[in-house]
Amino acid sequence: MLLPDVTILKTLLQAGDSFVSGSDLAKDLGMSRVGVWSRLEKMRETGFTFEAVRHRGYRLTEEPACLCESLVLAYLDIAGANGTGVFVLPEIDSTNSEAERLLADATETPFVVIAGAQTRGRGRLGRKWHSPPQGNLYMSFAFRPRRSPGRMQSITLRLGLAVCRFLNQAYAIPVKVKWPNDLIIEGKKVAGMLTEARVDADRMRDLVFGIGINVLGSTDGWPAEVAAHAARLGQYAPSSIRLNRLAAELIPVVAGEYAAYLENPRKPGFAEEWLAYDALNGREVTANRGSEPIRGTAHGIDTDGNLILETPDGRRTAVNSGEVSLGTGSVLF
Ligand code: BTN
Repeated sequence: MLLPDVTILKTLLQAGDSFVSGSDLAKDLGMSRVGVWSRLEKMRETGFTFEAVRHRGYRLTEEPACLCESLVLAYLDIAGANGTGVFVLPEIDSTNSEAERLLADATETPFVVIAGAQTRGRGRLGRKWHSPPQGNLYMSFAFRPRRSPGRMQSITLRLGLAVCRFLNQAYAIPVKVKWPNDLIIEGKKVAGMLTEARVDADRMRDLVFGIGINVLGSTDGWPAEVAAHAARLGQYAPSSIRLNRLAAELIPVVAGEYAAYLENPRKPGFAEEWLAYDALNGREVTANRGSEPIRGTAHGIDTDGNLILETPDGRRTAVNSGEVSLGTGSVLF
């Protein structure tokens, strides 16, 4: 019964504080008023609260705090962003793995897999991504770029900056980018990104961009060393964040930036825009390139997306892989 629920939710969301009559909903859906009432009762069981007033109708007063497919689809429909396939799952091993399986099954791209929890969430360099249920987002976007890998080199930076910019502009949350794949606030990590791709000869067959965002979820139960370096968007948002709405909003943000990247992988002014949100600029950092750590002061990125470091001898060097930590230590999250 996904479609009626999406229509009901879309109508109630658009009505805001106003009531929508049961007969109007029934007419739109081509079902009886009892049918509408029974859908609302079912949705109540999943965390929705509806106010029902005789002769006036219904209004939505509370949304579930956890991921809900029909609500994500309703928000997406309101935004008019439906060019991306959407798969919403309560739990999965890893949304990146699920996206890979769907790609292998010839699923049309672009699509996004969103999960409420992951049992085997993975991060960069073989790390685990703690993915408890309730309040966080785990999303993987799948594309078939059909470009040479060299032309996709800075895709994670572009998509990450697009998400960062959106969170600043739409939610007034002071998120910054930490090269190459983190979003941080006041030095604490709120999101991590993992891009994985398969290449055929010299062409990219497909690409999965995974992002895990700590939105509202508690860090209880996380290993202490991870919790110490982590934060939630909700701690910094001036107003409350609705998880399902945020999930829906991020879909056109990422899909739109991906399309823009294919058009123009070396967007003029990108390095300057990066600087505006760059958490590392002017900071002493250590880049762990293989076994050889390089210390220096970060000075943004170059046009290929490499991190520019000024080493103590005054030379500038471009770092294109590895990990970066603030200061001289190598504690990474
Ligand atoms: C990192 O910081 O090391 C990257 C973390 C990426 C986590 C996301 S959560 C959604 C997607 N599915 C995964 O298994 N990993 C990514």
